[in-house]
Amino acid sequence: MSRADLVVVANRLPVDRVEGPDGEPSWRRSPGGLVTALEQVMQNLDGAWVGWGGKADLEVDPFEFDGNLLVPVKLSPADLQDYYEGFSNGTIWPLYHDVIAAPVYKRSWWDAYVRVNRRFAEAAAEVANEGGVVWVQDYQLQLVPKFLRELRPDVTIGYFHHIPFPAYALFAQLPWRKQVLEGLLGADVVGFQRLADAGNFQRSIRRLLSYPTKSDTVQVPDGEGETRLVIAKHYPISIDAEQFIALSKDPAIIARAKALREQVGTDTLLLGVDRLDYTKGIRHRLKAHSELLADGRLTASAATLVQVASPSRPGVEAYQDLRDEIEKTVARTNGDYSSVEYTAIRYLHQGFPREEMVALYLAADVMLVTALRDGMNLVAKEYVAVRADNTGVLVLSEFAGAADELGSALLVNPHDIDGTKDTIMRAINMPKAEQARRMKTMRKKVMDHDVEKWGRSFLADVDALRKERADKAEADNA
Ligand code: G6P
Repeated sequence: MSRADLVVVANRLPVDRVEGPDGEPSWRRSPGGLVTALEQVMQNLDGAWVGWGGKADLEVDPFEFDGNLLVPVKLSPADLQDYYEGFSNGTIWPLYHDVIAAPVYKRSWWDAYVRVNRRFAEAAAEVANEGGVVWVQDYQLQLVPKFLRELRPDVTIGYFHHIPFPAYALFAQLPWRKQVLEGLLGADVVGFQRLADAGNFQRSIRRLLSYPTKSDTVQVPDGEGETRLVIAKHYPISIDAEQFIALSKDPAIIARAKALREQVGTDTLLLGVDRLDYTKGIRHRLKAHSELLADGRLTASAATLVQVASPSRPGVEAYQDLRDEIEKTVARTNGDYSSVEYTAIRYLHQGFPREEMVALYLAADVMLVTALRDGMNLVAKEYVAVRADNTGVLVLSEFAGAADELGSALLVNPHDIDGTKDTIMRAINMPKAEQARRMKTMRKKVMDHDVEKWGRSFLADVDALRKERADKAEADNA
């Protein structure tokens, strides 16, 4: 098998397997956020990507796609149940998102997580070039850095954590907390979204492992009386702003946005775009919105809420319960407040291509991002990027990582329903001049700090450590 100087390891491959009308399978680039973010970074690098092909028991040889080598990792139905739905999305996901849903601690899930993380590490070890770089992505693979270091001490390892890292008092609940920290510390660079995430990580290390930390670094004992320096700091992820701006100028997409507006027919279009996840605060948003209708501050003929909730993790019980609850609320609100002509909430439990999302962003006067906890939230950045005429208002949860950079949004605490209601009304009634002032500041931020810059700054730190190690090895040999 050919090898690569840069290997990305993520739970999912950046492609989905689709079957044509003739039953022939082929691969299509998948629309997810992580993929979009890394697509840019990988484009010119001739790299490899190790990940799961999206279906149980799929056995496929490594193959070329868009100039990169894709290396599928096989997951059995039991792996998916215990490693993916279980430990990743039934334990770590809720624990790291401030226990919005109750995490479940099951020893059999942990065993599967260890087993599958080892498998990903082995696949990466096989494909990385001598002295190359391996970049591990996200919470499903926190043990990969340590396993990989054991297999391939010659490679330099980066790990980026796309979701929040919780406060010590929460992280401490995890029965395998020390193993997870040691797993992550197998990396040379551990990256987080927010300054606070990196702080939480360092605090957990001091409390649980007693390793010294200083500004952005941790001193990890190597077992032979020496220490190894690990960088642990924040690198806020972003979007391919240029690509979104280009789409927003596409005449077909502009025409689509106009047609959507005309069909909706209200003065104001409010928009929510989320994976159907309990972290996104969709319930809180719907509550605020339905109370505004009940209070008579909004009417269905004056404003429509378009809520895109793309299907997510349907095998996990908390997601099934959330879906039931949201769909009941939408039906109730529409039953109570829609008319024959106007629909209060247009709810779409579907995923859409990027072009349609941009048309929706262009059509929306107010974008509602009310996550209860979110690593970053790229939807907020996408909305801002396409609003080239500096109109539109972003209502943004202070609990989303994006709030650190987009302070000119209308920031809300989504738990405060009255505050959220007032903020939605303020957004709807905001004068054009204020909209422009806020949007301009936010657009500058997103354009100056796009995903390419994110990837470059992370990989620059990895590369600096790689060079340092190479120089040291040379000096030791001299
Ligand atoms: C979040 C996570 C990603 C994950 C994505 C979709 O953005 O940070 O790691 O891939 O959600 O979730 P899924 O479980 O469908 O991969």
